[in-house]
Amino acid sequence: MAKVGIIMGSDSDLAIMAKAADVLAEFGLEAEMKILSAHRCPEEAAAYAKTAAERGIDVIIAGAGLAAHLPGVLAAYTTLPVIGVPLQAGPLAGQDALYAIVQMPPGVPVATVGIDGAKNAGLLAVQILATQDKALRDKLAAYKEKQRAEVLNKSEKLAAVGYRQYLKDKAEK
Ligand code: RP5
Repeated sequence: MAKVGIIMGSDSDLAIMAKAADVLAEFGLEAEMKILSAHRCPEEAAAYAKTAAERGIDVIIAGAGLAAHLPGVLAAYTTLPVIGVPLQAGPLAGQDALYAIVQMPPGVPVATVGIDGAKNAGLLAVQILATQDKALRDKLAAYKEKQRAEVLNKSEKLAAVGYRQYLKDKAEK
């Protein structure tokens, strides 16, 4: 059963929001994905948030662009943690969505990641679930160790081949 809901305001958001689902899948977690708009179908969006906890959802990830009210509206109707993903859409390139999502009024928090930061939203959801799940905590530790090793390997290679060759190899990849 899905413990994470991934909600987006439009199918225009799916390619970016898929990154949250991908990272959850890396940790063996399935997500319930839905397109629900705070503006175009507000009643259905509210109903989703109101019933998410009783259906076994523990964390909601919500992404939207432009005047991005979806994460805040979902947070208004649930006690579950909501992670907001501001999406790049339109002439303000996601800054409109970032401000709309991050500047929640006191009392109704939305944990906001960076513009198009769906991967980090997925990881944050894993970390929230891991507070009650030792196996997930072990997987997160392994994930961080892999990242550490990758950076150190790159640094070793840079020292070994020099920056010109490094850049050449990187461009050819
Ligand atoms: C927002 O408006 C959506 O989250 C999307 O990012 C943006 C544009 O939506 P479409 O007009 O492409 O459906 O509500």
